[in-house]
Amino acid sequence: MPCNCCEIEDNTFGEDKAKANLKDYRKRGPANQTKLILEAVRSLGLKDASLLDVGGGVGAIYHELLKDVVREATHVDASSAYLKVANEEAEKRRHIEKVKFVHADFTDVAAELPEADVVTLDRVVCCYPDFRSLLKAAAGRSKSAIALTYPRETWYMQFGFKAMNFFQRLRGDPFRVFLHPVREMESLLNREGFVLSSVRKLFIWEMALYQRTT
Ligand SMILES: C[S@@+](CC[C@H](N)C(=O)[O-])C[C@H]1O[C@@H](n2cnc3c(N)ncnc32)[C@H](O)[C@@H]1O
Repeated sequence: MPCNCCEIEDNTFGEDKAKANLKDYRKRGPANQTKLILEAVRSLGLKDASLLDVGGGVGAIYHELLKDVVREATHVDASSAYLKVANEEAEKRRHIEKVKFVHADFTDVAAELPEADVVTLDRVVCCYPDFRSLLKAAAGRSKSAIALTYPRETWYMQFGFKAMNFFQRLRGDPFRVFLHPVREMESLLNREGFVLSSVRKLFIWEMALYQRTT
């Protein structure tokens, strides 16, 4: 169901951006931070797993994991343009029968979605103001693991995000980027029954894999 978040994400992640992302993915394969999520999920040794990909963009994560780890995927996205492009790509790759597409703010629909073995959020928490609701909803849908990427808490990212938000405000665009506190994200997931099992860092992005303990 379209929401206020969907309207903002639709404006930010429109068709041009979605097509450009798809072109990159077709040409170069998954982005570097996405590769870290793929490696982390593969390290779990799952087979025939179910995947819930929140904010999946053009669908790189499930297109890759459907090759060897995943049996079925659900892609929930607030951007209708990304969903349209992802849907077309799923047709092209003959994955369409294995992927369910949901246009919504994940926090609004999480309770209605089936649980999945793995939940992924690749560069999603930084687009959403309320990381607590987002991660709580992700934890509530994950049977086994959550793999996510988010911007690193470094001085240069703090500076870069402040500058980006300053220009967004000047343009009158309501979309903002968020550098959420990594320790608070970890504490929240700990309370939800997950422990951090690996962390990998790039210059901009950090990838964390959490596994369910209870
Ligand atoms: C920066 S893009 C990342 C897309 C893709 N995961 C990638 O890494 O290329 C952020 C994505 O998250 C989606 N998104 C952000 N907040 C969301 C929410 N609360 N529910 C569903 N999708 C959300 C946006 O619509 C967008 O597709």
